[in-house]
Amino acid sequence: MKYNFDEIVDRRGTSATKLEALPKGAPADALSLWVADMDFACAEPIIKALHERVDKRIFGYTLYETAETKGTIVNWYKKRYNWDEKPENIVFSPGIVSGYVYLLMLMTNEGDNVVVQRPIYYPFTDRAVDNGRKAVDNPLIYENGTYRMDYDDLDRKMADPANKVLVLCSPHNPAGRVWTADELRKVVDICKKYDKWIICDEIHCDLLRKGVTFTPILNVAPDYADKIAVCTAPSKTFNLAGMKTSNIVIRDPEMRKKWLTLTGKILNVNAPSTLGLTAMCAAYNEGEEWLEQVNEYIDGNFAFIDGFLKQYLPKAHMIPSEGTYLAWIDFNGYVHGDAEKLEKIMQQKAKVALDEGYIFGEAGRGFERINIAAPRSVIEDCMNRIRGAIEENL
Ligand SMILES: Cc1ncc(COP(=O)(O)O)c(C=O)c1O
Repeated sequence: MKYNFDEIVDRRGTSATKLEALPKGAPADALSLWVADMDFACAEPIIKALHERVDKRIFGYTLYETAETKGTIVNWYKKRYNWDEKPENIVFSPGIVSGYVYLLMLMTNEGDNVVVQRPIYYPFTDRAVDNGRKAVDNPLIYENGTYRMDYDDLDRKMADPANKVLVLCSPHNPAGRVWTADELRKVVDICKKYDKWIICDEIHCDLLRKGVTFTPILNVAPDYADKIAVCTAPSKTFNLAGMKTSNIVIRDPEMRKKWLTLTGKILNVNAPSTLGLTAMCAAYNEGEEWLEQVNEYIDGNFAFIDGFLKQYLPKAHMIPSEGTYLAWIDFNGYVHGDAEKLEKIMQQKAKVALDEGYIFGEAGRGFERINIAAPRSVIEDCMNRIRGAIEENL
């Protein structure tokens, strides 16, 4: 089946966060390409499975712990990444950020530090701080137009007894890097040296540019798997973020027991929604064809933006994307670090609602993150608005 990602799907009237909660300062009529969900219709097998489930007419309590569901998840890991996982190591979380918070509650105490690699998906910092932890930066190195990790700095950070956990975003949002086996192993070696936990968020792992291979961290760290928690979900991959169904892999039996006590007994968040479970299983069992096509379409969107910038805005630089559907663009050639000016131009002149780079950390000043999981015509509109605004104002 050939999917039509050029189709404009009307999201008005669906309480879509992307449309109803624009970033502060953005005018109500701005073109919204901020929060990370897709403007594409879901895969047909998911829609069909949901219809069939609705037709069963009862939406009672739904169990996560079935052989069928767990089999579906481990089969996805295996067939996509040759990742062998035991079903019992997988636990439910409604979302990845919630899962991140639960893990912080279990792995750290108030006042402890969490190490993040900025520029980074901002909830890793914000939720740590909201929960009385401190977020300490191990900044990525921005060099030759792309990003790499600073292992010497990481070694110093992990040596500090106050720094208890490293949060790894793999693939990295917003840098678009898909960490290689070698890069991941270096990180594991450093954390192992100081016996520190790793929370590895692999939510974007299925969204890869053509020819790029994703390496699950557990595949390169069999000797350290008991100190790693991995966050996975069908939500980004299959545009199911509102279905609130995620899967966390915790191999250490003690930590898993603590997780089950926290989520099951203390917080009571141990079961998926009925439709979330249906959607996830359909996605993992029958969604591959759609996924291959959506990745190809997103490749095309990246190629379009790259060509557009080179032709019309040559002082802007898009970081080459290896994964995710988030374009990370450096406008400092125009604004020289003046992030406030850039924000104003984007919001008030271009009338686009994007994620401003500085919210990912100071290193993001002068950058914009554009969610490009949208029809090409929308991306063209966005880029033309930006071009017009920059040409007029800079
Ligand atoms: C790296 C990363 N982790 C987690 C999330 C959010 O996951 P959830 O909605 O399941 O909390 C996002 C969404 O943009 C993300 O980019």
